[in-house]
Amino acid sequence: MTNKEFSLFRKLLYSEYGIYFDDSKKGILKIKVDKLLRMNNMNSYRDYYELLKNPIEKQHLIDFLNIMTVNKTHFFREQNHFDFIKENLSEILQKNPMILKEKKIRVWSSASSTGEEAYSIAILLNEIMPKDIEIKILGTDISQRALKIAIKGRYSPIIKKQIPKYYLHKYFVKIGEEYIVKSNLKKMVQFRGFNLKDKFPFKNGIDIIFCRNVMIYFDEIFKEELINKFYKITPKGGLLFIGHSETIRNLKHKYKYIKPTIYIR
Ligand SMILES: C[S@@+](CC[C@H](N)C(=O)[O-])C[C@H]1O[C@@H](n2cnc3c(N)ncnc32)[C@H](O)[C@@H]1O
Repeated sequence: MTNKEFSLFRKLLYSEYGIYFDDSKKGILKIKVDKLLRMNNMNSYRDYYELLKNPIEKQHLIDFLNIMTVNKTHFFREQNHFDFIKENLSEILQKNPMILKEKKIRVWSSASSTGEEAYSIAILLNEIMPKDIEIKILGTDISQRALKIAIKGRYSPIIKKQIPKYYLHKYFVKIGEEYIVKSNLKKMVQFRGFNLKDKFPFKNGIDIIFCRNVMIYFDEIFKEELINKFYKITPKGGLLFIGHSETIRNLKHKYKYIKPTIYIR
């Protein structure tokens, strides 16, 4: 892959999805594009790039995003975020009074990958929220492969190590070796495709936004743009959680800092 070819793919990924491959990641990008060339029986980077610019079938773009994204996640990842919500629930409800007034809490897992984050939030909120509050969780991602797994809600026995036994039995059915999310949990969570680069389509505010372990793939310019888009849909008292290896402290935004990786409007 020549430097020119590398910069074509880099530009495409950045302008369409905000994902930025700096020069040090040329090797990783090449491995991924090589795999896509093999999948499409092609041998020219240029021809494949042209195909992505004018895809004959939607599937070409779907395959591209499935391969380009990193979907690593697990249940109750970065546990202290879940602890924070549990320990500060009355303050959260007091600072954002619309939740009790509307009897509804809206949460967005904005890079939900295979669904573990969204289902973890659902478990937590179902355990701690007053029973008359409707829990609405939206999980979105650009990887169709990841979304399919999230929608199915079927997970391998690995999750036994990630979820306390009591919750595992309460919220999952074991069929064969697999653990399947029960319908009482599933009905709180909706998944759909959404690119964080796009204009947000929400009519209502989102009380809690999880944007974790995706901004590491973005550059400072897009991160700042994104955080400001989040702010606009956050009601007063609403929260933003970011990943532990991420920071927004050097960006211009109006969120108030609570503690590392936790912000409030
Ligand atoms: C490492 S996973 C993070 C999953 C989960 N939030 C967590 O912290 O465990 C990153 C996810 O971000 C998604 N992603 C990358 N760029 C995106 C974009 N522009 N819009 C929406 N999702 C994106 C990827 O498809 C991937 O599933």
